[in-house]
Amino acid sequence: MSAPSVDIDSLNLRQGAIALEAHYYTDPVLYELEGDAIFRKTWQYAGHISQLQMPGDYFTFEILEERLFCVLDREDRVRCFYNVCQHRAHHLLEGAGRVRNIVCPYHAWTYGLDGRFKRAPNEKNAVAFDKGSICLPEIRVELFHGFIFVNLDDDAAPMDDWYPGAREELADYVPHIEDLRLITETQVEEDCNWKVSVENYSECYHCSLNHPTFANGVIDPKHYNVLPQGYCLRHTTKGAQSDAMTYTVANDSGRHKADYSSWYLWPTLSFQVYPGAVLNTYHWQPTGVDTVTVGRGWFAPENAYTDEIEALAQQDLETTVAEDVRLVNSVQRGLKSKGYRPGPLLIDENLGLNSEHSIAAFQRWVKEAVG
Ligand code: FES
Ligand SMILES: [Fe+2]
Repeated sequence: MSAPSVDIDSLNLRQGAIALEAHYYTDPVLYELEGDAIFRKTWQYAGHISQLQMPGDYFTFEILEERLFCVLDREDRVRCFYNVCQHRAHHLLEGAGRVRNIVCPYHAWTYGLDGRFKRAPNEKNAVAFDKGSICLPEIRVELFHGFIFVNLDDDAAPMDDWYPGAREELADYVPHIEDLRLITETQVEEDCNWKVSVENYSECYHCSLNHPTFANGVIDPKHYNVLPQGYCLRHTTKGAQSDAMTYTVANDSGRHKADYSSWYLWPTLSFQVYPGAVLNTYHWQPTGVDTVTVGRGWFAPENAYTDEIEALAQQDLETTVAEDVRLVNSVQRGLKSKGYRPGPLLIDENLGLNSEHSIAAFQRWVKEAVG
């Protein structure tokens, strides 16, 4: 798929753009509003298919306060359910594991892996008990090369409509994408609104100054660009010169082995491919108006370069991630200052590295959703 043609006129940015006002990042009422306007309407990352090997394998997760779980049914289909019993609302499953049936810990009501009610203690003596009408409400699931996404909105468009081209491009960059498993995962707490963190991720205007390891030893920032592609922000650049790379690029990693690219899928998941087809993810999980947990997942095929990838994940945690935490925490404090007036975004006529057109696109999506 050829890259969409994007320029300053197609982005409608010739008049520039002003950063969002501070209350978008600090107002608890607006944060509540985002729950319905953004998080319960968009594709949210749940987990990876390698976490569900056998029928009955499950894992639990949350979207804001909503408890959910994914489970592999007896037909090897990934299903997602609200993690709430249809009796008197206790949660059903905890953590991750393997079950034959889904059994509520409160009064042992039992559901099949397809969510249908199976039995309850003393049901044979129950009056007015219509067991055929009881089943767990199911949530939409899409598999994106083995990455499991869910959407709490039954009417949401499919992922390919939201993120045109991303599925094909990702496979082109990561030839072994269907064979991945999770190698390592880290979680970092940031004291900022989730949008501060996403915005920081979505421009490389700050990279050369703040990320010496990333900007010299992983990528070549000269070619960096971030362009909107539907509700995706697509990052592209070349990898660093091979003698400057901080890790060894595998020879068999496909035609993009010397390239870097990233696909940020609005609103909370980004796929990032480091040179050598090293796929890693950013997953933003808001925990309050001014706190967010950022998950970093690193994926590779079974038995492949595991030590190298773990070392790279550690390097990334100690450099890029730590550097970004300091930046975003400082921004959140600044957003609470009486002295802050939203400044102009730096829009370069030619777009490219030192330009914040991607932030303008992201902020439009925010305003479109919450007004
Ligand atoms: S609340 Fe689940 S069995 Fe009673
Ligand atoms: Fe950064």
